[in-house]
Amino acid sequence: MIKPHGSDELNPLYVADDAQREALSQEAEGLPSILLNSAAAANAVMLAGGYFNPLTGYMNLADALSTSDNMHTNDGLFFPVPILNMTDETGVEAGTRIALRDPNVDGNPILAVMDVEAVESVSDDQINQMVEKIFRTTDPAHPGVSTFCNLGRTLLSGPIQVLNFSYFQADFPETFRTAVEIREEIAAHGWDKVVAFQTRNPMHRAHEELCRMAMEQIGTDGILIHMLLGKLKPGDIPADVRDASIRKMVDVYFPPSTVMVTGYGFDMLYAGPREAVLHAVFRQNCGCTHLIVGRDHAGVGDYYSGFDAQIIFEEEVPEGSLELEIFNADHTAYSKKLNRVVMMRDVPDHTKEDFVLLSGTAVREMLGKGIAPPPEFSRPEVAKILSDYYQTIDG
Ligand code: ADX
Repeated sequence: MIKPHGSDELNPLYVADDAQREALSQEAEGLPSILLNSAAAANAVMLAGGYFNPLTGYMNLADALSTSDNMHTNDGLFFPVPILNMTDETGVEAGTRIALRDPNVDGNPILAVMDVEAVESVSDDQINQMVEKIFRTTDPAHPGVSTFCNLGRTLLSGPIQVLNFSYFQADFPETFRTAVEIREEIAAHGWDKVVAFQTRNPMHRAHEELCRMAMEQIGTDGILIHMLLGKLKPGDIPADVRDASIRKMVDVYFPPSTVMVTGYGFDMLYAGPREAVLHAVFRQNCGCTHLIVGRDHAGVGDYYSGFDAQIIFEEEVPEGSLELEIFNADHTAYSKKLNRVVMMRDVPDHTKEDFVLLSGTAVREMLGKGIAPPPEFSRPEVAKILSDYYQTIDG
């Protein structure tokens, strides 16, 4: 199987041994603690599951600046975004061991234990420098920028040991999986070539066909449909609704045993190209050989142009940084001329009018009124689940 990023074996930071975890849990109750913000908690969950291999904890300021600037830590490890624990909590001292409390679970239970190696102040200039590089904008209207700028001004760095997977295992027992579990499942299937499809949206016909085209063109044994289960911006569709609609589509329209529907516990960054590279790193850690990157991957608004997330792999990711390969997808849509979903680059004779193109807003409006989008756009089974959801929130 493809090797994890940066090491021969995956190094998940979840303490899997029951006795060790119990002992750590008891120790943690006696330690000074801080309440994490959601971004830092999500980082801990990703580190716990092996997704952010080979990192052993939160980055220090030098590595935060360096990964933001050039996608490498000061030790030369390729990593596309800084993995941080920023806080406004005061009183934490370097050289101490602290408990990290979970902001996303009632009662704020302890999520992890951290050996604090450094406590560093981050200036506004440094925040701006990082934001500019990660998000390619400093516009506070960008949802990822506004989240990042409000994480705090003190950076706590050092290794962590993680006690649980926050709310993800309890809320999504069928869907949340660690990178370790995904590797095990790929091995159990006996799959060799596996393409990952990143998603934070329901899947319409263009997405379904995009997956099929990637599988056929790469010649994969299977596909990992891998959805984000963490926080999104207001207006995005909740994970349980997306999960139900994706599972329905897979059940009805894909051959059995070719698709794994799973999810990961991370908050969306909306960092477009940089997030696409992060997606590639953690799909390699999951054992995938390929990742689909299509139109406006991990984008928001008009901050990135349609294929920036593909260009970054060609222009900014040094050769050999990753073993996983990118499957670049062109804009995909239903062709009225050919009566099937196509990639636009494959039909140079088509004009815009030859495609069924609907904006997200238009689809939402239709579903909210109980009108199904055309079957060329959405599978009826998927439309029904989404329409039921929109009517509960709109009605
Ligand atoms: S994302 O933020 O997780 O990237 P989304 O779930 O909408 O958002 O997209 C999942 C993947 O499908 C991304 O790789 C995206 O680029 C791709 N994609 C979505 N819609 C299209 C489309 N119509 N044509 C080509 N690629 C698309």
